[in-house]
Amino acid sequence: MRRTEFEMSPALARALLAELPVVHLASTLDDGTPVLRTVNSVVVDDWIGFHSAPNGEKTGLVGRPAVLQAEEEVATVPSTFFDGEKACPATAYYRSVQVHGVIEAITDPANKARVLQALMEKLQPAGGYLPITADHPHYRGPVNGLLVAGIRLERITGKAKLAQNRKPPEIAALLTSLWRRGEPGDPRALELIRAANPDAPTPPFLAAPAGATLYAWLPPAAAADAAGLLVDEYWNAGTFTRDELTRAHAGGSPWVGARDATGRLVASARAISDGGKLAWIYDVIVAPAWRGRGLGQAVTRLILDHPGVRGARRVMLGTRDAHSLYERFGFVDRAALPPRRFPTTEMILIRD
Ligand SMILES: CC(C)(COP(=O)(O)OP(=O)(O)OC[C@H]1O[C@@H](n2cnc3c(N)ncnc32)[C@H](O)[C@@H]1OP(=O)(O)O)[C@@H](O)C(=O)NCCC(=O)NCCS
Repeated sequence: MRRTEFEMSPALARALLAELPVVHLASTLDDGTPVLRTVNSVVVDDWIGFHSAPNGEKTGLVGRPAVLQAEEEVATVPSTFFDGEKACPATAYYRSVQVHGVIEAITDPANKARVLQALMEKLQPAGGYLPITADHPHYRGPVNGLLVAGIRLERITGKAKLAQNRKPPEIAALLTSLWRRGEPGDPRALELIRAANPDAPTPPFLAAPAGATLYAWLPPAAAADAAGLLVDEYWNAGTFTRDELTRAHAGGSPWVGARDATGRLVASARAISDGGKLAWIYDVIVAPAWRGRGLGQAVTRLILDHPGVRGARRVMLGTRDAHSLYERFGFVDRAALPPRRFPTTEMILIRD
């Protein structure tokens, strides 16, 4: 690989390969014909495995050298993020992984069944079927009949081009530019770039109270932690379950938070927004040990500035007692507003 600063460890490359949904397989048939296929694949032990009909084209690839690749574009950035005149700095940030090896048929029925079951768990996580085993009457025939093949993960390389070639102040400026641009993937992109460049200074919009780090985007895996902070608060207790709160956070709407020095989630705020007419801020929470140190204001400021929220003309939130906190940001009690021009009755469907 040409630039070592973009290189991933084999362990990270393997994790990325397991995570990315689309994998391409390139090889040649015996007569030299090139073949490129997209495969449903799964990482099992030290293999990446896939399957096909026994008389399909992939059977002709067994024993052939091959390369597998999966990739994701994290963000494309315009030249103007770095330079006011030159086109050259325009670039794409991405993560990719490649595996080189030989395609081998997996013949042991128990191992074939394991690969097929792992594929099911990846592609149909909701279940709803009997687990695949080599000797179950449902599966004996298909397990024997299908081609299950794989490539050993011995030569795996990963590349994460996430601005590691930029100087720390340039990275802070890049994070700010992504936040200001605010395209749908930009909050995630800026957090991936930030994680890849831990020495970059924190840009002003992510300034946090001492000991805490603010995040403009959180991974779905953090949703259960947010639910844990929220489940006993007065507006959720006895009404919403931990599972419902987890789903509410993992659903992809604007969500920001803060972690302590150990990486524990200690504050969170989310919003539902159409980005233009109305946003509703929900579930602002600071872990009890962290209250009174400015974190509540920090996550409120950040969620109000979130690209999905900042363009909304009206922002609503409901609170029993934290009025003065929100008044600082311009919130006013709705009862104090003049009557609306077109009085309406608000309708609500509660599924309790
Ligand atoms: C409300 C909450 C988010 C504030 O977070 P925080 O990190 O303690 O807040 P900050 O330190 O940033 O700011 C607190 C300021 O807001 C004011 N405030 C107003 N109502 C408050 C309340 N109910 N709780 C805490 N602070 C409140 C404080 O007076 C304080 O002002 P000061 O800086 O002049 O002393 C936090 O206390 C919390 O999670 N409480 C339980 C959940 C909750 O009530 N959420 C609001 C409903 S959406």
